[in-house]
Amino acid sequence: MARTRTLWRCQGCGYGTPRWLGRCPDCGEFETFVEESVAPDGPADGATEVRPAAPTPIGDVEASAEHRLATGVEEFDRVLGGGLVEGSLVLLGGEPGIGKSTLLLQAAGALAEAGVPVLYACGEESPAQVRMRAERLGIGTAPGLSLLAETDVAVVVATADAEEPRIVVVDSIQTAHDPELTGAPGSVGQVRAATTRLMRLAKDRGTIVLVVGHVTKEGAIAGPRVLEHIVDTVLYFEGDRDHAFRVVRAVTNRFGSVSEIGVFEMGEDGLKGVGSPSSFLIADRPEGAAGSVVTVAMEGSRPLLVEVQALVSPSYLETPRRLANGVDRGRLLQVLAVLEQRAGRSVGSSDVYASVTGGVRVSEPACDLALAVAVASAVSEEPIDPRTVVFGELGLAGEVRPVPHLGARLTEAAQLGFERAVSGRPRGDDPGVAGIRLAGVRDLAEALATTK
Ligand code: TYD
Ligand code: MG
Repeated sequence: MARTRTLWRCQGCGYGTPRWLGRCPDCGEFETFVEESVAPDGPADGATEVRPAAPTPIGDVEASAEHRLATGVEEFDRVLGGGLVEGSLVLLGGEPGIGKSTLLLQAAGALAEAGVPVLYACGEESPAQVRMRAERLGIGTAPGLSLLAETDVAVVVATADAEEPRIVVVDSIQTAHDPELTGAPGSVGQVRAATTRLMRLAKDRGTIVLVVGHVTKEGAIAGPRVLEHIVDTVLYFEGDRDHAFRVVRAVTNRFGSVSEIGVFEMGEDGLKGVGSPSSFLIADRPEGAAGSVVTVAMEGSRPLLVEVQALVSPSYLETPRRLANGVDRGRLLQVLAVLEQRAGRSVGSSDVYASVTGGVRVSEPACDLALAVAVASAVSEEPIDPRTVVFGELGLAGEVRPVPHLGARLTEAAQLGFERAVSGRPRGDDPGVAGIRLAGVRDLAEALATTK
């Protein structure tokens, strides 16, 4: 009989070793090893010999278009690339409380209403709690939606085999466990084994499996990160819990592009798709206030108007504060250095606060110029023209570089009533978008003079 082995596995990166180690040689984390039993290796003695299979020439393989099932939650379908693909496993990751259960329950409800049977395995909440949430979402009595309070994946899979739902939701993978392993639920080994079983369910039966995975701010806990390469599609739910604005982004998608995002607003009765996120995000902008600049960020293939704000105030600290909210702090520091060295605008011993409103995060270098202009405007206390948008990448020499997707950015800004865009000089022709004028600048000093 094959012997059951145990393996110590790093909960940070999944590295396995036969002995306990204090520090993971792969990711360098300390005290992360947890013991797991692993399924017996290979076939027992005397097992049948392995026969070669017959490969098929690629030209003889039938290229079937995948069957997609639209969930009816429009923004969700958009990130998925048009809907859920039969036999696929989708992982929805995100911080606790961001809205993962809400989104999947809404999608499950909409599908059930449309006659698609859904099995919702809730390991985190009791069926009564899920029912209560469903009431709030207006899907309390959806006929084809069944709940299963179960954390054992083997039971979930067996139930799916018996009930034959077209969709199985597992909320969450951290509470799911595989009875054949000893590790605690949520450990890397368990999470991986449970997902592998669910993957088999998807591939064998053509069932669509949706799995919730929690990620902490540090991205540290076992889960989505170690699963990314097992599943077909990984979506991340992002946003700030204190704001209503939420973005669902595809990180990997075997059945679609990763350049689409879904935009939602969390309200009293669940998530609502936001058709025009730009106008939503700049609705409360204080027009004519110094330190406020509108920029156009790209979220995937979607241009998004966001307001960048800066506040500069005298510091009473030895080391002045540099706080960044929604933008990378390193980027802010770099922009401040360029402002000082290349444009003579020093923030010296002042505290600097920079923030992107609405709980959005922008990581694109194209927002550097807006950040610089916002800080300069905060320093001089002169507001910039409210009908101007600013975007461009800022080099260390103070040069302003053109950005990709220029036409899309200009079009979005023009649609929201902006009349001028200050940006780097385009490499090619000015796309000539009606209603908006592109003021191409060479460097930061020119940009500051232009926006004054
Ligand atoms: P939830 O979907 O439970 O988050 P997750 O599954 O990612 O942990 O969402 C939790 C938050 O959303 C909670 O703070 C309450 C809020 N919420 C609303 O504001 N409106 C609603 O209609 C629902 C269902 C939740
Ligand atoms: Mg939840």
